[in-house]
Amino acid sequence: MNSFYKKDVWQIIEDGFHPEMNRKSESIFSIGNGYMGQRANSEEHYSGDSLQGSYIAGVYYPDKTRVGWWKNGYPEYFAKVLNAPNWIGIDISVNGKAVDLATSEIISFSRILNMKEGYLERSFRVTVSGNKTIEINSRRFVSMAEPDLGIIRYIVKSIDFEGTLDFTVYIDGDVKNEDSNYGEKFWIEVSKEINGNNGVLVTRTLKTDFYVATGMCFEFLKDNREIVIKTENIAREKYIASTVSLDIRKGEEVVLNKYVSVLSSLNNTKEKLTGDTKARLKEARTKGYAALFIGHKKEWERIWATSDVVIEGDILAQQAIRFNIFHLNQTYTGKDERLNIGPKGFTGEKYGGSTYWDTEAFDLPFFLKTADREVGKNLLLYRYKHLEKSIANAEKLGFKNGAALYPMVTMNGEECHNEWEITFEEIHRNGAIAFAIFNYIRHTGDDEYMADYGLEVLIGISRFWSQRATFSENLKKYVILGVTGPNEYENNVNNNWYTNSLAVWTLSYTIKNIRILERENPDKLSALYIKANFSFSDETARWQEIIKYMHFPVDSSRDIFLQQDGFLDKELKPASSIPSAERPINQHWSWDRILRSCFIKQADVLQGLYLFEDQFDTETIKRNYDFYEPMTVHESSLSACIHSIVASRIGNIEKAYELYLHTARLDLDDYNNEVSEGLHITSMAGTWLAIVEGFGGMRIKDGKILLNPLIPVNWLSYSFHARFRGLLFEVKVTKDSVSINNISEKPLDLVISGKEYQVEGSGKLILNLKIDFFS
Ligand code: BGC
Repeated sequence: MNSFYKKDVWQIIEDGFHPEMNRKSESIFSIGNGYMGQRANSEEHYSGDSLQGSYIAGVYYPDKTRVGWWKNGYPEYFAKVLNAPNWIGIDISVNGKAVDLATSEIISFSRILNMKEGYLERSFRVTVSGNKTIEINSRRFVSMAEPDLGIIRYIVKSIDFEGTLDFTVYIDGDVKNEDSNYGEKFWIEVSKEINGNNGVLVTRTLKTDFYVATGMCFEFLKDNREIVIKTENIAREKYIASTVSLDIRKGEEVVLNKYVSVLSSLNNTKEKLTGDTKARLKEARTKGYAALFIGHKKEWERIWATSDVVIEGDILAQQAIRFNIFHLNQTYTGKDERLNIGPKGFTGEKYGGSTYWDTEAFDLPFFLKTADREVGKNLLLYRYKHLEKSIANAEKLGFKNGAALYPMVTMNGEECHNEWEITFEEIHRNGAIAFAIFNYIRHTGDDEYMADYGLEVLIGISRFWSQRATFSENLKKYVILGVTGPNEYENNVNNNWYTNSLAVWTLSYTIKNIRILERENPDKLSALYIKANFSFSDETARWQEIIKYMHFPVDSSRDIFLQQDGFLDKELKPASSIPSAERPINQHWSWDRILRSCFIKQADVLQGLYLFEDQFDTETIKRNYDFYEPMTVHESSLSACIHSIVASRIGNIEKAYELYLHTARLDLDDYNNEVSEGLHITSMAGTWLAIVEGFGGMRIKDGKILLNPLIPVNWLSYSFHARFRGLLFEVKVTKDSVSINNISEKPLDLVISGKEYQVEGSGKLILNLKIDFFS
């Protein structure tokens, strides 16, 4: 696949303006800081195809559900991350004619995402009145250091034009979500003020009553000196603006700095929003553009210092991994346990910016290895705080006695998705949430978490599995009927191997931890029994039976696990038999045809083998991989990364590399033809895992780090950082060596290709090993 964007190790570069690519590029070049995010829309008016998108983490709207046939148990609403007031607006006209990239004559254009320093830059030259040329360069960032701030430096240079520039600098709250179910707008105005070059607009959301203040102030400079300007103000409903007219001469340059602060009632008192915003703007302007940019840049330096992956010898792979790491850090900083990671982050509306199982299954392992322990903990606490709502959700579906079914899609703990096959059937998400507790504790060593929070969640989830499994007299086994596994190209199947595996694992893990707490902290356990109204003897007897007698579908002739009962009745064909014009099949085939086919949307059995690989030998994993991989179409972004890790696990480095590039460049090369809707943020963590757990073979076992490195044939080396129980270390793999740089003070114990080593605090270990790079 040819990449549309230029190859560069730290930047994404679009050269030349391509209106048909505009929506895609708006997604790709998005900026964010965990607190808010912004698509790469142009500041000046653009009349072509565009998805205007400004988003604020945690500010959502419960849009009334729209379905054809209502089914009991459906949630009343679908929560949407809200398209928030547009803060970037700077319209510009030259001698009375608007600069608009859709209609202006463009001489040159480039859009750059600088991932090292975290900014978006657009530079272009356009022809203006009388065949003259002006050049515009705009750079903007949302500050990583001061997250409520969005800053734009907008430079207009006259190449050979002399005349008047008219600027309209504005905040527009009259925005709507493109995916609004009934075409409604979700914001209403609370207040506004605009005085000269300062203004604040306060809007609030209908229903959820979030108050958001979006304030701006700006300054104009010539030759580095602020110039006196005359402003005229415009105020209409949900809109404030300041207009400024300036004369410009040939060769002259005008700089406009726009400072924006966005505060919301999530963190500020409603009544004080306007005042607080004005104060923040004053502080921002006093610091000035340059100082704010330095503060922001330093934060990115800090992030990259511990999360960068360096690949030598493969520029496409290098660019892609940084792109993935960059967007993950732009989406989630882990400072606020009320927030989570939406599949599209702040880059689009689809998936509503809500929380999916993606967080626990894909993102948590990334943040556990690259960020402070608190970040992972906050992701877990998010679910802990939603336990009550998950119990209510299960009750609504007929479960009882404290059984918890976490929502498949949520903003605030309530289920907000209403396709029955997902809402009611994709129950494997409960397993991912249980597994996340295990994963967090094995990474951090924070055993307290189990006693304080984890076990309560595990009991709720185990109760759910216990009630959801039924006994089949026919098979003399427990079965879980009517589910959708990770592979959403199958619905209402019986005994999805992955789901059944997770159910059994959760039940055993819960019992194991109850036993541990019984020994180590009986008082806490008794308190928990009372809180959860739990009786060990009454409840776990059935759990033990389910563990012992769960049905797992297998194909004994091939000696593989079956994705679900009856999978072999399908006509088994490789995905390579599908004509390329019909890919992705979800954009070409009818839904029933997809359901009847053997084609697999995303890792399913392999997702289970990835989680539970310790239970299986390499040959078993290989047989299953060889059976399922050829039928997998990878039409979920969450697929290729898992397949890549499993391919590395079985030593198939060529395939692992091919799948790595697929997952890493999924958005940059738009494999599934949907980037215009936003980026696949959650799966980006899977890309990182494909390097660290895949090529690096990193695992945690018995409280130790294990590495079994491989290296793709065309790479000279790769290196990554990882954290483990308070330690931070760097791993570098070349074709004939592995080196470990222990950046922490304490010694690091690890097992490399089967041998034990200890690297002392601040020490280095260099091993000359022949690293496999053949399949
Ligand atoms: C995948 C789900 C995933 C969702 C959000 C779907 O296409 O099949 O597994 O949770 O996207 O990323």
